[in-house]
Amino acid sequence: MSDTRPEWAPAAINLDQPSSARVWDYFLGGSHNFAVDREVAEAAIAFKPDMPELARQVRMFLHRAVRTAAAAGVDQYLDIGAGVPTMGPVHEIARERNPHARVVYVDHDPVAVAHGEAILAEDPDAAFIQADARSPRAILADSRVRALLDFDRPVAVLLCSVLHFVSDADDPAAVVATLRDAIAPGSFLIMQHASHDDQPSETIAMLEMWNAKSPEPMYWRTAAQIEALFDGFTLLKPGVVPLPLWRPEPEEAERAAKNPQRYASYAGVAVKPHVTGTAG
Ligand SMILES: C[S@@+](CC[C@H](N)C(=O)[O-])C[C@H]1O[C@@H](n2cnc3c(N)ncnc32)[C@H](O)[C@@H]1O
Repeated sequence: MSDTRPEWAPAAINLDQPSSARVWDYFLGGSHNFAVDREVAEAAIAFKPDMPELARQVRMFLHRAVRTAAAAGVDQYLDIGAGVPTMGPVHEIARERNPHARVVYVDHDPVAVAHGEAILAEDPDAAFIQADARSPRAILADSRVRALLDFDRPVAVLLCSVLHFVSDADDPAAVVATLRDAIAPGSFLIMQHASHDDQPSETIAMLEMWNAKSPEPMYWRTAAQIEALFDGFTLLKPGVVPLPLWRPEPEEAERAAKNPQRYASYAGVAVKPHVTGTAG
């Protein structure tokens, strides 16, 4: 289905193919999406009616995790696969505690990047760059990343709802390991990842529908595979858990406990440990 190109849409994008960034924006009630995105989003909702709530739950987890990092004194953030900045972007949440927190957003989607650049144009402490999560070395070497983030001090790296777009062939564990090796002890890893564990057939059908229609197929993983992505980090309590169970707000806790697998994903927050010297 074709659409007319709004003024804000970069010329290079294909209006006939859905993008995960724009579908996510639609789930979150944003306006940076096209007919093709809304069509796929509605097809996903037909299989799994709580898709918009899932997207909201991911954002709520991200907010809780960023507040946890901020409370530990972290004032720099690298949000990879950031999406169209809607519903509480990281700089807004981090700056509740520290108004000088610095944030670099990374996404490969031109609409997410264009919108991010526009809202951050007057913000000297934040940037939005276009890069591929599968090339972490290029992200770490980017001059805007280097200008804003000091890798000799703790950084929080966010990988929320993005590593399930990275195939086994593209080695998500190596992506995380490269980031881990570049960040200082005390740095945080904040991750959410889709999983097919304990999912009903409708949810699996939705995944198959998405993978048939999207140029960005997803690779859902088991809880054990997701936990393994935290290799070399120390997980904070409660560990890698179904998404709504990661430190829910008290008013959400009862609902979260009722059917924690309903959002088909796991989440965790971890810290890079300080190396302890060995005697002798
Ligand atoms: C489902 S959205 C999640 C957005 C945000 N992180 C959140 O949790 O609300 C996934 C985002 O990852 C981005 N993405 C997917 N594959 C990517 C890749 N290889 N490199 C960079 N960004 C990617 C998409 O463009 C999209 O914006």
